[in-house]
Amino acid sequence: MTLFDTHAHCDDKRYELEYEGGTDKLISDCLENGISNIINIGTCLENSKASIELAHKFENVYASCGIHPSDVLTYENVDEVMRELEELLRDEKAVAIGEIGLDYHYEDIPKEPQMIYFERQMSLAQKLNIPVIIHDREAHGDCLDMVKKFPKVKGVFHSFSGSPEMALELVKLGWYISFSGTVTFKNARVPKEACKVVPEDRLLVETDSPYLSPTPHRGEINMPSYVFFTAEEIARQRETTTEHIAKITKENAKRLFNLNNFVF
Ligand code: NI
Repeated sequence: MTLFDTHAHCDDKRYELEYEGGTDKLISDCLENGISNIINIGTCLENSKASIELAHKFENVYASCGIHPSDVLTYENVDEVMRELEELLRDEKAVAIGEIGLDYHYEDIPKEPQMIYFERQMSLAQKLNIPVIIHDREAHGDCLDMVKKFPKVKGVFHSFSGSPEMALELVKLGWYISFSGTVTFKNARVPKEACKVVPEDRLLVETDSPYLSPTPHRGEINMPSYVFFTAEEIARQRETTTEHIAKITKENAKRLFNLNNFVF
């Protein structure tokens, strides 16, 4: 059995400091230990470029490129950022725009610039006909409204934290739902309920490494191979096998991110 980690930040500086051998060793270890593929996620222009470089080093690693809501104040000219982003997305291993969205947890980033970047990147996704990866932290209503504004754009809500009802609404709109290590947390009643209602053909798994380490590794640095614990918990909730979850989530990732041309 192998699993597809659809959301990891393997280029994160923490791996150079805390993982012997750094990012490259981390990825090759994971690919040898139960991980079939990884999507490495960009959050700014700089690490979107790094993501593409990593994807070219490893056949089974793909890149997403995008401006995270927490990074929007880094830039002065949104038009210029969108031009550079579009340039990056021409790369054959850039498979999605992400992560983009809204984060209302910290109040130091005003909503307005977050909205501007979110909307511009949704319209870029529409123009390029490419899937998006959405970060929605404590901004469920506004994220749903944005998705509804772009009915042609499809993608995934990553590390889903909404209700089962919201999951079903997104599924109806054609979206995928991805669960991270948070579903393994003992008190995570809502994600545990939500992962039960998502139809088989819309479910994805991820780690969000180096963040959100699953039980029994909470507090440690996360890594793609720990996606196993998330798949295992989802299997438990859905009363099926981890092998089955592995199989369907791999097929779903391949379909959503249009990976048919790649070696699998
Ligand atoms: Ni992330």
